[in-house]
Amino acid sequence: MVCQIFGCSFKSKITNCPHKTYFSRTLCFLFLFLLSLYLILILKDIGKFDLKRRGHSIKQDDIKSLNEQVLYEDEFVFKNNSTMLKKKIITLIAAAAENDALGKDNDLIWHISEDLKRFKRLTTGHAIIMGRKTFESMPKALPNRTNIVLTRNKNYKADGALVTSTVEEALDLAKEDNQPFIIGGAQIYSLFMEYCDRIELTRVHHEFEADVFFPKIDASKWNISKKEFVSKTENQPYSYSYITYDKK
Ligand SMILES: NC(=O)c1ccc[n+]([C@@H]2O[C@H](COP(=O)([O-])OP(=O)(O)OC[C@H]3O[C@@H](n4cnc5c(N)ncnc54)[C@H](OP(=O)(O)O)[C@@H]3O)[C@@H](O)[C@H]2O)c1
Repeated sequence: MVCQIFGCSFKSKITNCPHKTYFSRTLCFLFLFLLSLYLILILKDIGKFDLKRRGHSIKQDDIKSLNEQVLYEDEFVFKNNSTMLKKKIITLIAAAAENDALGKDNDLIWHISEDLKRFKRLTTGHAIIMGRKTFESMPKALPNRTNIVLTRNKNYKADGALVTSTVEEALDLAKEDNQPFIIGGAQIYSLFMEYCDRIELTRVHHEFEADVFFPKIDASKWNISKKEFVSKTENQPYSYSYITYDKK
């Protein structure tokens, strides 16, 4: 049949056909053409997938593993500079959405790599105080920090962390540090708000469905001393602001 297309006279004996080499080349060319087309389509699909991952449709499992990658990846350990502080500053650090959403199903609901890096930069070398649920939302204690976990369960054991049942004792465990951080979650933020001197809040300019929320900041008690807006990008779908509040 192929011979017929090329007008070959050796119609039935294709093996003797003088156009054989030509046919093979044409078939080869066709095969390579289809293969490249296939590869182009696959690469385009990977690109789309990547964009999806970066965008709003990012899955909860991906958010968790991306957040953990940033929190636990080895990096230069920043020196504890709290000795430079003249007085002790208890700092509450949180990231909350426009509707005060903090997390859902005992996990974070977004992945903002730069914010996590900032969290790491600020807290490394310091004591970090957290609730039992937040501790359990992480794969292990955060490295290069004194992890302090609050629970009412007197028998609770937390690998790599100190465990306590009262606010006073938690703060006492952090007494060597001039800048201990309260790192959440919602119950612990509410509990420690009155003991804090500073709030480092990352306000994510988006609303999220959540089951835990950041407590209201009483404007009569707190001053905004610093604010920095970070615009969304192709890789980072939410704009956010770093806001520092100091107690009046
Ligand atoms: N966006 C952010 O910046 C951020 C930061 C941290 C966490 N989160 C999110 O917040 C959520 C977890 O927050 P959460 O409010 O559910 O839990 P949590 O504050 O992390 O921990 C609550 C636990 O702390 C213990 N606790 C609370 N009050 C206490 C008290 N007065 N004395 C002794 N122990 C006390 C209790 O532990 P027992 O039940 O063992 O007694 C309680 O169940 C997660 O979704 C997490 O991902 C978000």
